[in-house]
Amino acid sequence: MRAMVYRGPYRIRVEDKPMPVIEHPNDAIVRVTLAAICGSDLHLFHGMIPDTRVGTTFGHEFIGVVEEVGSSVQNLQRGDRVMVPFNIFCGSCFFCARGLQSNCHNVNANATAVGAIYGYSHTAGGYDGGQSEFVRVPFADVGPSLIPDWMHDEDAVLLTDALATGYFGAQLGDIAEGDVVLVLGAGPIGLFAAKSAWLMGAGRVIVVDHLEYRLAKARDFAHAETYNFAEYDDIVVHMKKITDHLGADVVIDAVGAEADGGFLQHVTASKLKMQGGSPIALNWAIDSVRKGGTVSVMGAYGPVYSAIKFGDAVNKGLTLRMNQCPVKRQWPRLFEHVKNGYLTPRDIVTHRIPLEHIADGYHIFSAKLDDCIKPLIIPNAS
Ligand SMILES: NC(=O)c1ccc[n+]([C@@H]2O[C@H](COP(=O)([O-])OP(=O)(O)OC[C@H]3O[C@@H](n4cnc5c(N)ncnc54)[C@H](O)[C@@H]3O)[C@@H](O)[C@H]2O)c1
Ligand SMILES: [Zn+2]
Ligand SMILES: [Zn+2]
Repeated sequence: MRAMVYRGPYRIRVEDKPMPVIEHPNDAIVRVTLAAICGSDLHLFHGMIPDTRVGTTFGHEFIGVVEEVGSSVQNLQRGDRVMVPFNIFCGSCFFCARGLQSNCHNVNANATAVGAIYGYSHTAGGYDGGQSEFVRVPFADVGPSLIPDWMHDEDAVLLTDALATGYFGAQLGDIAEGDVVLVLGAGPIGLFAAKSAWLMGAGRVIVVDHLEYRLAKARDFAHAETYNFAEYDDIVVHMKKITDHLGADVVIDAVGAEADGGFLQHVTASKLKMQGGSPIALNWAIDSVRKGGTVSVMGAYGPVYSAIKFGDAVNKGLTLRMNQCPVKRQWPRLFEHVKNGYLTPRDIVTHRIPLEHIADGYHIFSAKLDDCIKPLIIPNAS
């Protein structure tokens, strides 16, 4: 089969790989019909994630058709159209029982922190991902859901991560009616978080980024008020100015460890590897939220940091909430919102790229060329 393969930082290509096989009776093999590249894949692509091995296939956002099922699978059969959450989880361990599917204890030998994620390095379990023609889906009775007939394929693939994560980011903000919600980052996660914030009762939604075309999308798609941080000496001071000098009630970090806007942090993180990435967006969040407010962190971060304003967070009495999104937990409510037309996730798709050209997709998305917001990947495109 054809699959995207990692060759080293900034180097990927499409190769022939052996077909995945059933390794456990509860596995399924899924023929991928549509996949996507996530901002999280860019951290892998840039060589930021520990233990990303040459030869692995990325891709944790995908939908497809069941090709084969293991002997104990009961809920799926060959030919079923399925959407697969990015988390691999058992459904029955201590953590899964508490809805913490992204922290499942049974799927990752290193599972002291994260559980397992398709195509996300051996740190996240070492499973191959769905930017390929076929993928092995463990715990096939637990993770995947049938795609409802009324659901558009592009909406389904965005529900496997980006929409669920943006919504989760807003949820962890504990938004009260009328709250001022500031979202840092206008990528797919930030756009969906901003849109979701309105559904949860926000009174004002502000989005900050430095890419004008994404801020335009935040205005059109998420009806947000937007600011370009490159136009201000200190964006935190400006955020204070526009919020009665108090700060936002809730700040959602939808940027993560590769934030721009802090040269020194960038050098210590990316060049010298002194930290697990740049904490600049997280620090802007801590500084821009009001005392007693909530910071919700959806951006991905490496394990160790030295320059986070933690004392300020303590002294401001902040609530800090964060996790990898437990995707399937979000689905019942999100299916309703998509069905009712409150959310049309496919509105943010900008590129539809055949698997054979996925290297171009990574390059365009990584360098933010061609007004790219969300690239989808089409295996077997003719
Ligand atoms: N927690 C989860 O479950 C989960 C799931 C998916 C993605 N993520 C993470 O969420 C983050 C965003 O993902 P995405 O797909 O939207 O990525 P993306 O790269 O498309 O978007 C990130 C955006 O942040 C902007 N940005 C950079 N520095 C900034 C700063 N200092 N302040 C404000 N904006 C800044 C960039 O210009 C870009 O538009 C990534 O770190 C990704 O790994 C987490
Ligand atoms: Zn993702
Ligand atoms: Zn579990």
